Amino acid sequence: MDYLQINRVNSLNGKIKISGAKNASLPLIAMTILAKNSVKIKNLPHVADINTLLKLLSNLGAECDRKSNPEITTVDTSSLTQTKATYDIVKTMRASILVLGPILARFGHCEVSLPGGCAIGQRPIDLHLKALEQMGATIDIKAGYIVATAPDGLKGCQIIFDKITVTGTANIVMAAALANGNTTITNAAREPEVVQLCEILNNSGVKIDGIGTAVLTVHGTSGKLLDINEFSVIPDRIEAGTYLCVAAISKSELILTDVDAKHLGAVLSKLEEMGSTFTITDDTITIHPSDIIKPVKIVTQEYPGFPTDMQAQFLALSTQASGTSIIEERLFENRFMHVSELQRMGADISLNGHVATVNGGTKLSGTDVMATDLRASSALVLAGLIADGTTDVHRIYHLDRGYDSLEEKLQNVGADIVRLKE
Ligand code: EPZ
Repeated sequence: MDYLQINRVNSLNGKIKISGAKNASLPLIAMTILAKNSVKIKNLPHVADINTLLKLLSNLGAECDRKSNPEITTVDTSSLTQTKATYDIVKTMRASILVLGPILARFGHCEVSLPGGCAIGQRPIDLHLKALEQMGATIDIKAGYIVATAPDGLKGCQIIFDKITVTGTANIVMAAALANGNTTITNAAREPEVVQLCEILNNSGVKIDGIGTAVLTVHGTSGKLLDINEFSVIPDRIEAGTYLCVAAISKSELILTDVDAKHLGAVLSKLEEMGSTFTITDDTITIHPSDIIKPVKIVTQEYPGFPTDMQAQFLALSTQASGTSIIEERLFENRFMHVSELQRMGADISLNGHVATVNGGTKLSGTDVMATDLRASSALVLAGLIADGTTDVHRIYHLDRGYDSLEEKLQNVGADIVRLKE
């Protein structure tokens, strides 16, 4: 297995190009199941989760080509014949559940291995299944598989999500795209990744009202497959937020390119509260960090609130603040596993249920640390950049799921970070 070895450097400087959003790419790849043509996708990030989903689609009989042109991935599902997403793939990436809605809508039947929980929590999919049943599907659980059938197709209806679910919204929007009649989804997720999915479907013959709001109305095509034109995946706002935290914690001025500041409102606002200022253009963000990092209070929420996917990174940053920060995780039940590793580096953090109290101003010392999940991994890299001595971050397969070329991007701005073999 690989690990990252990081040594402290005085400061970083330069530009970091932001890659396409992992969490936009996954539903957009699943969306190709609804297409009658082959679909060209630009700006897919080169990360493990994307490769996993492309492999899943290939296993189902689709043609996925990333080799002919590294800038454009072509996915052709016209040859898709299988409708069973097996455990071996689904267990490695729970977002595989995103194929359930489209496969069921197109073929009238689908089997997907139950994704199970993951490090950060149970991650149930009850809301996905309940909504599909409301649309007329029969859902059974057999030997660890979801077995969904809708022989007469899905029917449009009124869905009200008990909780806001990002992939749940994406799954049902895709299922509704081919349904008979209109589906209204109330309490829909408003994340930019869901907005892009809706915009592309809306440009492909599926009229969708309310895009970007909590109430979506999807006008189904009654089974007619879609003509989907080439599109480019939006920038990854969480990758961008992570590098903004790199700049803030190392007190370095960095320029992010190919980024959309409109998707980072809550993150930029919190960094301003902590002392940074910004120069923003249509596709760049320059961060001017402050010498003194002010403490902060954070509560994670659904978009446009503060993103849970930035909680670990801000917790690492707050270990260097001049005072006490309070960070509350409201979306997932076990998303503080980075805390114990940061404590081993010398951070002064106390946990009480879903609330972390961080007494800042502590010097961190490099040591061996272990990544436990995707965003926790990036928090440990952040800490390693400013810790005294050497930090070895192990099990970085977690990191590779969602960060495209992280060590190269950091090396390019002067970080002392290398990937080594255990
Ligand atoms: C998406 O996960 C993201 N993943 C996650 O990013 C992100 O943390 C999460 O949304 C919240 O923003 C992708 O988009 C691939 P949810 P998702 O359904 O859709 C509960 C990362 O680091 N819930 O919005 O799985 C659930 O338990 C990853 O890139 C139900 O109870 O999250 C959670 O408490 C990690 N029943 C809350 O809703 C359901 O059927 C939000 O979950 C579905 C969800």
